[in-house]
Amino acid sequence: MKSSIRTIRYNDLRLLIFRNVYEPAEDTFLAADNLIVNENDHVLDMGTGCGILAILAAKKAKQAVAVDINPQAVRCARKNAEANKLADKVDIRRGDLFQPIRRNEKFNLIVFNAPYLPSTTMETQSWLGRAWAGGPTGRQTLDRFINEAPHHLRKKGRILLVQSCLADFDNTLRKFHSLGFEARVVAFKKVAFETIVLIEAKSFIPTVRKRTRRGEKSEVSRVAVDQASGAN
Ligand SMILES: C[S@@+](CC[C@H](N)C(=O)[O-])C[C@H]1O[C@@H](n2cnc3c(N)ncnc32)[C@H](O)[C@@H]1O
Repeated sequence: MKSSIRTIRYNDLRLLIFRNVYEPAEDTFLAADNLIVNENDHVLDMGTGCGILAILAAKKAKQAVAVDINPQAVRCARKNAEANKLADKVDIRRGDLFQPIRRNEKFNLIVFNAPYLPSTTMETQSWLGRAWAGGPTGRQTLDRFINEAPHHLRKKGRILLVQSCLADFDNTLRKFHSLGFEARVVAFKKVAFETIVLIEAKSFIPTVRKRTRRGEKSEVSRVAVDQASGAN
């Protein structure tokens, strides 16, 4: 009988892909190839699937939290974290976007390879459908994520978001800008009928001009000014 569990490799990782769990593809690898984390980072991998991005992040970061709405993805990611000897650094939770994240829980980096393809509601009836289907405009989950993610980001934190040109990535850039982020496309990949983009959004710390006592103009970050005036 043919096994319903497949195995894939990414660099030195060996990952099992359970039935009904998204198999890493070009969009995954676009994020994976550009995933830069620091030693002290707390990383959130939203929509973890088989756990690949959380496990990669946890190899270097202090801790990774991974979330998925699909119970089979949660089981699969746990198995892969154990198999790659990173179970103590990856905390895998089941839920809808930020619902399993505590209100005061904040991260240096939030990464999300989102469901971003335009779809009918029919496609959201299966777990695999929910991995890629983003509703009529492709933006159903993207927009919810963009609104909620900033509440869980530490100062100077970053968001890495994968989506397609088919779900209007200019709209994503505009939304991040309106929320006070610097956002830009940092990598892209053309595939059969779309271009997949990796967007990086960084907390924007505006600078203000201030006169020194000797009358020179100096640039001071808004955060520094707010902190100095006790506004933070
Ligand atoms: C495109 S797949 C990416 C999987 C994996 N991160 C990767 O890059 O291979 C999107 C993942 O998001 C999950 N997902 C979809 N909607 C979600 C939601 N509302 N909350 C949490 N996870 C969700 C899906 O179950 C799926 O595992």
